[in-house]
Amino acid sequence: MCGIFGYVGNRQAGPLLVEGLKKLEYRGYDSAGIATINNGEIEIRKDVGKIEEIERKVALSSVGGTVGIAHCRWATHGGVTQKNAHPHVSLKNGISLVHNGIIENFSDVKARLEAKGYHFETETDTEVIAHLIDSHYRGSLKDAVLAALKELEGAYAFAVLSSKEPGTIVASRNECPLIIGVGKGENFVASDVPAVLAHTREVVYLKNQEVATLTATGVELFEKTGKKLRPDVHHITWDAAQAEKGGFPHYMLKEIFEQPFAVTETTEGRISDHEVLIPEIEQLLDVKRIIIVACGTSWHSGLIGEFMLEEVARIPTEVEYASEFRYRNPIIDTGTLVVAISQSGETADTLAAMREAKEKGATVLAIVNAVGSSIAREADVVLYTKAGPEIGVASTKAFVGQVIMLYLLTIHFGWRRHLLDEQQVRNRIRDLRLLPLQIQQILDEREEIRKLAKRFATRSNALYLGRGINYPIALEGALKLKEVSYIHAEGYPAAEMKHGPIALVDKEMPVVFIVTKDDRTYKKVLSNIQEVKSRGGHIIAIASKGDKEVNGTADEILRVPRNSYLLNPLLAVLPLQLLSYYVAVERGFDPDKPKNLAKSVTVE
Ligand code: M6R
Repeated sequence: MCGIFGYVGNRQAGPLLVEGLKKLEYRGYDSAGIATINNGEIEIRKDVGKIEEIERKVALSSVGGTVGIAHCRWATHGGVTQKNAHPHVSLKNGISLVHNGIIENFSDVKARLEAKGYHFETETDTEVIAHLIDSHYRGSLKDAVLAALKELEGAYAFAVLSSKEPGTIVASRNECPLIIGVGKGENFVASDVPAVLAHTREVVYLKNQEVATLTATGVELFEKTGKKLRPDVHHITWDAAQAEKGGFPHYMLKEIFEQPFAVTETTEGRISDHEVLIPEIEQLLDVKRIIIVACGTSWHSGLIGEFMLEEVARIPTEVEYASEFRYRNPIIDTGTLVVAISQSGETADTLAAMREAKEKGATVLAIVNAVGSSIAREADVVLYTKAGPEIGVASTKAFVGQVIMLYLLTIHFGWRRHLLDEQQVRNRIRDLRLLPLQIQQILDEREEIRKLAKRFATRSNALYLGRGINYPIALEGALKLKEVSYIHAEGYPAAEMKHGPIALVDKEMPVVFIVTKDDRTYKKVLSNIQEVKSRGGHIIAIASKGDKEVNGTADEILRVPRNSYLLNPLLAVLPLQLLSYYVAVERGFDPDKPKNLAKSVTVE
């Protein structure tokens, strides 16, 4: 994920570009840069690091000119270097360009351009777009962009300048977000709305493969055939705080809704139709044993990882609370890989467990969301979940990113250890690609969950039960409810419940069962439901769409689409997150600020 910002008008572009970038820094912060047209010449400043650091080093904001584009990067193609930072250029026609996304056919296009004499300076796919537009330039930047789009495959949002048309920015997108901010005597382009709100509330949401030209005096819009369109301008009514929340009342809800993107962003650049790409673990493929250390929700994702890694990759895996692990004198040898999972990358217990493991000679792989955090820096290998910044104290989208990364690791290990053949890998990737739409479907059908929350909100206790790979989802559902609604909830393995907690069951007790099809414990869980029903418990089932067997057993059923048994947990968790959120709101609590809780627990 990267951030794009552009300005054209009568004010000095430099300070505005830097201010816009700061609003977008959550989208990428390994490097940043800006390009302006100053006295007819392209002027570029860029470097690695956070925007503040780069500003100190190269004074981005003092670049001259009243038109410019800016970018903050989270590297996907090419390492984090000054050269690979955006903007990228093609000098024949004074082209400079910033881009978010991945050009899937970049090597084919690159070969064609090289044959025409274009020389590539960087390892990025973005440079291909700059040269491609340059190669089509015949006096109109807009026409060159339209011609280039015909040759580009993949996801992109970009903004481009040419020194031959000094008062114009051209922008386009496909699958990656891009909006136009319509001002008075000035116009803006940005990856999201909050970046332009200090200047304008009139916004055009660019659609896939539309092309916009921005000058100080206007915005013109074209479809990919070149036909002119009338821009559909939306007036944004959100206040500043709402804008940061993308129009949602709370970060927690916004982040729940961002989960389809958490899946696509985390897999971006890591899957093709037939393989999973994790070159970072090439030296770790013959590991004998894995120990996962984590806390809270990250520990729950670790439990799902344990199930996947043992089931598919046949690697003995244990999951430890980081806070317990370090005081247990754990047995670690050189064949042990310790996997530290953390959203913030700053959780004190996880960091300490990881240090302990390293001291004992283990290799540590970290699965982290926050780039450059302590855990990411100290690990031997880091794999970033690209869920974007998680502000809500209750973790939602980071959890999804973690499970996706564990799934990718599992397939990669399974394939490289010859436990999965190519067809099986293809099938698992196909399942993964279904997930964002299936998550979206649950979000679209949330009304039923909201209604259920009204009834649930009056209860004082709840039990969450699941088995196998769904057991961690029971734990996660219970944790989410406790955190934001302050209703006491316990997650339990569904069969273990009869060894104790069943004593609590009566008609006042909601018992939430995760009973998705395709799991080998499905029938057993149906029997567990009967056991609770016969004691008068109020049963809420999270069940698969189309499953009739569950009808008549549960009092209320929330349906989720069907995927493979390995990915069904990521669908089952959605109604539980939404339920917790709506119950908290119904009870009058602010889910973003649960009492006694901090987002990042940096003390032991
Ligand atoms: O940043 P981390 O993933 O290391 O944080 C771990 C836990 O503190 C965190 O998951 C916590 O349990 C959340 N509040 C759960 O919603």
